[in-house]
Amino acid sequence: MVSGDASKMIVLIGLMGSGKTTVGRALAERLNLVFRDSDEAVEKTAKTSVREIFEIQGEEVFRNLESEALVELCAANSAIVLAVAGGAIISQLNRDLLRKNAQCIVWLDAPTPTLISRTGRGKHRPLLDGDPVGSLNKMRLDREPLYQQLATHHLVTQSLSIVDVVDQIISLCSLENSSSR
Ligand code: S3P
Repeated sequence: MVSGDASKMIVLIGLMGSGKTTVGRALAERLNLVFRDSDEAVEKTAKTSVREIFEIQGEEVFRNLESEALVELCAANSAIVLAVAGGAIISQLNRDLLRKNAQCIVWLDAPTPTLISRTGRGKHRPLLDGDPVGSLNKMRLDREPLYQQLATHHLVTQSLSIVDVVDQIISLCSLENSSSR
C-alpha cells in the first residue's frame, strides 16, 4: 500500500526513454522540491558510469548498486521527486521499498517507437546496444505487469509536452499545494 503522506517521495517509473528524468526535473522545479535520479546516485557512489559498471563488473553488480542507492535515497525520508531507472522495479525488495516510501508512484509510458526516438542520445543504456526495438519490446513484456502492480497512476505521454505531463502528475497525485510546503 502506498501512503498518501505528503512528506514522502513522488516516484516516477517506466521503461528507458519514458521521460522519467526530464519530467522529474521539471516536476521538482515546479513543486520546489529536490530531484534525484537512481542512475545518477549509482554513478556517484561507484565513481564511474552506468555503462562502465555493466561492461566491467556486469549487470548483477549494477543491480546491487541500484538497490543500495534506492535504500539510501529512501532513507532521506523526505518529499523528493525520484526518477527510478527502468529495471529497478524487477526486484521485489526495491518495489516494497518504493511502495513504503512513496506518496504516489507514476508510471510514465509510451509506445516503443517513441521510446526509441528518445533513447537515441542516452549513453547509459547498454541493454539497448544491438537491437533496441527487440530489447525494449521484451522489457515491456517482462516488466509491464510489475509497473502496473506498483504504480498508483499510469500516464501515456507520447502526445503530451513536458509541461502537460507535469500538469497531469500534479493533478493525478493532488500535489497542487506541494510548492507551499
Ligand atoms: C536500465 C535503465 C537505465 C539504466 C540501465 C538499465 C533498465 O536507466 O539504469 O541502462 O534495465 O531498464 P533509465 O531507465 O533511466 O534509462
